[in-house]
Amino acid sequence: MSPSTPPEAAQKLLAIPGPIPLSPNVQRTLGLAPQSHVSPEFVKIFLESLHMIREVVHTTSASTAFILAGSGTLGWDQVGANLIEKGDRALVLHTGYFGDGFKECLDTYGANVDLVKSELGGTVKIADVENALKNAKDVGKPYKIVTITHVDTSTGVLSDARAVAACVRQFSPETLVVLDAVCSLASEDVQMDAWGLDVVLSASQKGLGAPPGLSILIASQRAINLWEERLKRGVKSGSFYSSWEKWIPIMRAYDQNKPAYFGTPAVNLVRALHASLVEITRGPIPLATRLALHIHASDLVKKSAERLGMEQVACEPAGRAHGMTALYVPEGVSAADVLGGVARRGVIMAGGLVKEVKDRYIRVGHMGWSVVGDGGKDVSFVVRVLEEAVKEAVEKKRVTARL
Ligand SMILES: Cc1ncc(COP(=O)(O)O)c(C=O)c1O
Repeated sequence: MSPSTPPEAAQKLLAIPGPIPLSPNVQRTLGLAPQSHVSPEFVKIFLESLHMIREVVHTTSASTAFILAGSGTLGWDQVGANLIEKGDRALVLHTGYFGDGFKECLDTYGANVDLVKSELGGTVKIADVENALKNAKDVGKPYKIVTITHVDTSTGVLSDARAVAACVRQFSPETLVVLDAVCSLASEDVQMDAWGLDVVLSASQKGLGAPPGLSILIASQRAINLWEERLKRGVKSGSFYSSWEKWIPIMRAYDQNKPAYFGTPAVNLVRALHASLVEITRGPIPLATRLALHIHASDLVKKSAERLGMEQVACEPAGRAHGMTALYVPEGVSAADVLGGVARRGVIMAGGLVKEVKDRYIRVGHMGWSVVGDGGKDVSFVVRVLEEAVKEAVEKKRVTARL
């Protein structure tokens, strides 16, 4: 078998909910020759990245930030391995496929997991969260953690993290609030300190505008205290690679401008992330404006879909993400036809992920450089191509019906 080299595939515009297109500067930085991970130059890049990621989640009080080689899933794993002990109770708020994933991860570390599930496309009701928290307290076994998927990438549902965190603080103050911000960071507002979040976990390849391959996690002092208290009792992390016993000294060394080693950092990815974080936190478009641009781009896509008669999977107007949109294809049209039509026009969109409706919808990403770069020309192109492809698929259906 000869290796495949599909240059034309690589040139298509990625409009999936991550990975996303890179800014020219991030792309160039990625291609630089690797640096030594213990060189003063790289240590400075790492330190600055740890500082800038705190700015993106709006924290000045968080204890420790982690940037590790691995995907977003590694954030779940860090939570399971370092904050969960066998038999601990966890409450997972489920708004799609990624809630199942987080639950499965916590199960692996012996957690006793309850799910509060939304209707397909809806958000979890705060009253249901409140009830679950009260019931757990009433039986004397409060939840150790509550997890929220900020944007579930399978449905495009945006959860109200601030309201959930406030509910947890009120009815179960000892419970840690963990936010899966893989599909939301830098495309939705995340206020770690103001909302009282204990863990924010994310990944490099979506709103943060870098290639896939980095797990990003910021832990509050409360989260670190809980891990320390467990360590004092002699209970170690349930994992080797995810172990905070291993990584906290490394992250703290970098934070103090000193090199340290546990596993070799992904130096090129960290440099690319650094370049993107500089754009996000120090670039000509401030973070607040970036978020406003995401809302604008999201409106363009969603309004165009409405004109085409496509319904959104996310059914509550306030519960719709701004960095992606999940859209049912028109009745009688196949998702594969629409995806094929946009691909022929040079755009890659994603198929469905939720089992029950998998073949009935598509997912469109509009994050990061696609939104803020070149005056948002990518998003205009995506909207035009979607309109053409859907009209073509509807026409094909009409012709086939007549035959
Ligand atoms: C909300 C959410 N959580 C977790 C993950 C897992 O991240 P990764 O695929 O980078 O491991 C994803 C991936 O898309 C996601 O969208």
